[in-house]
Amino acid sequence: MHRNSRIFVAGHKGMVGRALTRELQEQGFEQLILRSRSELDLRNQAQVLAMLRDERPDFIVVAAAKVGGILANNTLRADFITENLGIALNLIYGAHQADVSRLLFLGSSCIYPRECRQPMAEEYLMTGPLEPTNSPYAMAKLAGISLCDAYRAQHGRQYFSVMPTNLFGPHDNFDLSSSHVLPALLRKAHEAKMSHASTLEVWGSGVPRREFLFVDDLAKACVFLMHHDDPPSLVNVGYGEDVSIRALAELVAQVVGFKGALRFDASKPDGMPRKLLNSHRIRELGWRPTVNLEDGIRRTYDFFLSSLQG
Ligand SMILES: NC(=O)c1ccc[n+]([C@@H]2O[C@H](COP(=O)([O-])OP(=O)(O)OC[C@H]3O[C@@H](n4cnc5c(N)ncnc54)[C@H](OP(=O)(O)O)[C@@H]3O)[C@@H](O)[C@H]2O)c1
Repeated sequence: MHRNSRIFVAGHKGMVGRALTRELQEQGFEQLILRSRSELDLRNQAQVLAMLRDERPDFIVVAAAKVGGILANNTLRADFITENLGIALNLIYGAHQADVSRLLFLGSSCIYPRECRQPMAEEYLMTGPLEPTNSPYAMAKLAGISLCDAYRAQHGRQYFSVMPTNLFGPHDNFDLSSSHVLPALLRKAHEAKMSHASTLEVWGSGVPRREFLFVDDLAKACVFLMHHDDPPSLVNVGYGEDVSIRALAELVAQVVGFKGALRFDASKPDGMPRKLLNSHRIRELGWRPTVNLEDGIRRTYDFFLSSLQG
């Protein structure tokens, strides 16, 4: 990649897309191709093909997707598989048609089997059934990985996939009907503090363990791999440690300054019992995370507070 490479960041208004755009700009990449959803609906194959043939990017980063927490994934099952399959197919097939030779596809750690051996290494993909609550989303992401592999094998394209662990940071989704656990807890803890509530409700038993990575670290990992001459076809990107949901909720409460008690609602689903990635492959290449969970939560809470002010 050269400083004048033309890079299309699909989904640049999302949490990951914004962090990637910031990181690329900080590293001096000025020729970024950016399209909002109103300018280009990535579910529309004809529009995507026309845009790629017109712009001829050197590199595509697929950071666009329909993304949500456990409730949204489990209820909008058809939307999650249809939209994510469409986005993956249109961009990966479109890249090949427009002769774009390099592409990074963002998947997610939920593609690993529900009962996967921990920590989850790249080789454990497709070794067991998926977690049912988000299987349509995971299926679409698996199809995206398979598309990259197939174009790589059949046409020599350098298309590769990055599997991040749970991400959080500025521009996260704090809408309780569709958010992930960490931004949901931040919002609920903040509201509980402001209303002087005595308890903070936490979904599930609090027992499942999750790994969290600050989104700027993921952006750095992606750009690090984009600089690589021959990146592996599939690369996990995680922080390297997990925490129980109970410990996470306690940390969020401490950062926010909520002093009441936690109340666990066991009627809500727990999801996978544990999700910790084995990030050995990218660490061997030389990447390391730089932001710990507590600092990341503070920075995300600062963003949340500033977003409330307008
Ligand atoms: N967040 C996480 O914890 C996490 C963890 C692992 C992997 N990932 C992966 O990282 C990627 C980005 O996630 P994110 O958290 O940044 O999600 P996000 O904040 O919801 O951003 C997704 C972006 O995609 C855009 N988009 C969705 N459908 C589109 C369409 N049909 N046409 C054009 N643009 C469309 C959205 O546009 P609008 O702004 O118009 O909605 C948004 O800007 C996804 O592939 C996700 O699977 C995320």
